[in-house]
Amino acid sequence: MSTNIQTVAVIGSGTMGNGICHVFAQYGFNVHLMDIRQDALDRAVATIGKNMDRQVAKGSLSSEAKAEALAHISTFTDMAAAAADADLVVEAATEAIDLKLSIFRKLDELCPPACILASNTSSISLTRIASVTKRPGQVIGMHFMNPVPVMRLVEIINGYGTNKEVTHTIIRLSEQLGKVPCVVNDYPGFISNRILLPMINEAVLALQEGVAGVSSIDTIMKLGMAHPMGPLQLADFIGLDTCYSIMNVLHMGFGAQKYAPATLLANMVQAGYLGVKSGEGFYKYTPGSKDLVVSERFAHTEQFAVAY
Ligand code: CAA
Repeated sequence: MSTNIQTVAVIGSGTMGNGICHVFAQYGFNVHLMDIRQDALDRAVATIGKNMDRQVAKGSLSSEAKAEALAHISTFTDMAAAAADADLVVEAATEAIDLKLSIFRKLDELCPPACILASNTSSISLTRIASVTKRPGQVIGMHFMNPVPVMRLVEIINGYGTNKEVTHTIIRLSEQLGKVPCVVNDYPGFISNRILLPMINEAVLALQEGVAGVSSIDTIMKLGMAHPMGPLQLADFIGLDTCYSIMNVLHMGFGAQKYAPATLLANMVQAGYLGVKSGEGFYKYTPGSKDLVVSERFAHTEQFAVAY
């Protein structure tokens, strides 16, 4: 069953924003991709084109379908123009509460009354976001996973006041995008990050304590638990700053010591070692290379498990 959503404004053109734009455009929606800088938008559209080329190369998308999908994307640096005729907005800006609240205040003024306001937030309360709008019943979490074109899950988060019809619309819409929706309630970290981030933080604590080295920790979790990436590589992929901010949300939200972020994670973030996006985290990344090379800073942990 389809929804009456045709035009989707995506706010933010970073990794998540361009992935979300990619999927909506691929499935025939008109997408208004908005960011404050035109060069960021141009980079995002180029990335979408390259990622669609991967799908063309493996035969899951035809060249014609790629061209059609790209033609569905328009870029905007003006939020009012991007939002004016949107049926749905998916906000995918930086994970900072003040920024998100200010975006939702503006969206509430700029969007048509029937428009649904969704956030791709990975941990910020949807109830808090909805509270700055005059339409809390139409505010919902639509949490996509990275890389968006590949990962099948959409975690849908009901704020305290989200209308049931809005939840049903977003469930059907996620299915239209070929995704599997799962609905959860608004608690810190929802389900995905309440479970994923403590695992990643525990891996950092184990490294910090010298229980094992970077590759041993990741190999144990990859081969032993059939995870596609080990927790330290996944932390680099998500961004250590994002991991740290989600741990802080869990720590403050539940007030329990078990959610305290590892000191090593905090230090790496403060020193600017953010993972893939900064070129170095637990691993060192060289543009164009797919090799997984442990960062020099952790080379000593690779020798053997450190003595007690
Ligand atoms: N767009 C389109 N296709 C893409 C893509 C993209 N951005 N990225 C990868 N792919 C495709 C590749 O073309 C390839 O396709 P085929 O297998 O059909 O050839 C496939 O995905 C696998 O990619 P690669 O061969 O490049 O590499 P890989 O086999 O190592 O897989 C991966 C890469 C899919 C990222 C895999 O390592 C993986 O699943 N990792 C875990 C990802 C994960 O856990 N994501 C969730 C993070 S948490 C989050 O996002 C939410 C949060 O709030 C923190």
